[in-house]
Amino acid sequence: MKKQFNKNILVTGGAGFIGSHVLRLFVNKYPDYQIINLDKLTYAGNLENLKDIENKENYHFIKGDICNQDLLNEIFENHHINGVIHLAAESHVDRSIEDPSAFVETNVFGTISLLNTAKKYWPGNTKDNLFYHISTDEVYGALGKTDLFTEKTAYDPKSPYSASKASSDHFVRAYHNTYELPTVISNCSNNYGPNQFPEKLIPLIINNIRQKKLLPVYGKGENVRDWLYVEDHAKAIDLVFHKGKIGETYNIGGSNEWKNIDLVKLICRIMDKKLKRQSDESKQLITFVSDRPGHDLRYAIDASKIINELGWEPGLQFKKGIDKTINWYLNNQQWLDNVVNKSYLKYYDKMYGSR
Ligand code: NAD
Ligand code: DAU
Repeated sequence: MKKQFNKNILVTGGAGFIGSHVLRLFVNKYPDYQIINLDKLTYAGNLENLKDIENKENYHFIKGDICNQDLLNEIFENHHINGVIHLAAESHVDRSIEDPSAFVETNVFGTISLLNTAKKYWPGNTKDNLFYHISTDEVYGALGKTDLFTEKTAYDPKSPYSASKASSDHFVRAYHNTYELPTVISNCSNNYGPNQFPEKLIPLIINNIRQKKLLPVYGKGENVRDWLYVEDHAKAIDLVFHKGKIGETYNIGGSNEWKNIDLVKLICRIMDKKLKRQSDESKQLITFVSDRPGHDLRYAIDASKIINELGWEPGLQFKKGIDKTINWYLNNQQWLDNVVNKSYLKYYDKMYGSR
């Protein structure tokens, strides 16, 4: 007999960096939930990230695009979806500067397609349904030297990526306000940890140090980011999904600000020790390159709302988190090689090609 689940949750973008950690947490912690992972498997989606849970009874993968309305209808209908955790997105700022249109397509149009599907299948504002939209602190724009982003900070996105995420946030709020769709949003700072695609700063630097390649630092390396360990973000998502108030927004951040240049030097020092290289050897690879156009100077989150109202706290100290992260990449060099030479893209055909 087919197992009855207490909740049927659609996670979008689950083969990506944060999505894979969210899936691992939910699939293992909630065996009574059916979790459907809808992912298009773009260059950033990697099913190797989910090997340890792919055969679990409560997990099901569907390859597909969040812009495909017919597919979304089919999934909501066949799986009786009553919760959405929406992570699928084009997520890299530099790519958005090269080609903004893919960001409008997935981040804006894809989000509206999902909202329309939830609106169609969840008539009335019932307590049993929730549309949870995962967003970024970049929607708030750039900070000066001392202030922090709160949930009340006015939106001021500066890059095509953040403009597309801000637009999607506005649509989520509009659907709540206009159609009473039960929604919640969280805006998080920079995540780091295992399984992050090596186009983002931390895995890129780790990968280049390992290969003794130049370490590109944009501008003077003065820009500041607030880094949070990805599993702490996944725990915050679990809390907001279960305890967040409908219609509310929660900021999530690590209270852990680093200037890019200091962070890169720290990774150099740790890796020189681990790889038994001369001290300061990797630092020589640091190369200042042209700045990112419109580069936001500083992001930093005031997370007091989620801490005070939902009891969340970032568990892992940065020194431990970065050490754990570097160890993961050094112990999983095949993962990095597969990503860099794109052979991981063949994993789907191997695993699912005949289905
Ligand atoms: P990622 O780029 O690693 O993963 C994105 C995933 O979405 C991939 O698996 C990709 O295949 C999938 N995807 C892309 N377009 C799709 C489409 N049209 N249909 C279905 N699937 C599609 O991204 P990430 O870093 O894990 O970020 C996940 C979410 O969290 C994004 O919404 C991002 O804006 C947000 N966020 C990220 C960070 C961060 O530091 N990485 C911080 C705050 C918020
Ligand atoms: O703040 C949350 C955001 O963090 C997320 O919404 C985005 O999806 C995620 O990509 C991240 O955006 P950033 O632009 O901050 O991350 P990135 O890793 O691309 O860059 C971090 C900082 O490092 C930024 O100031 C640019 C700089 N940088 C980046 C790269 C790739 C370099 O100096 N050199 C590089 O090669």
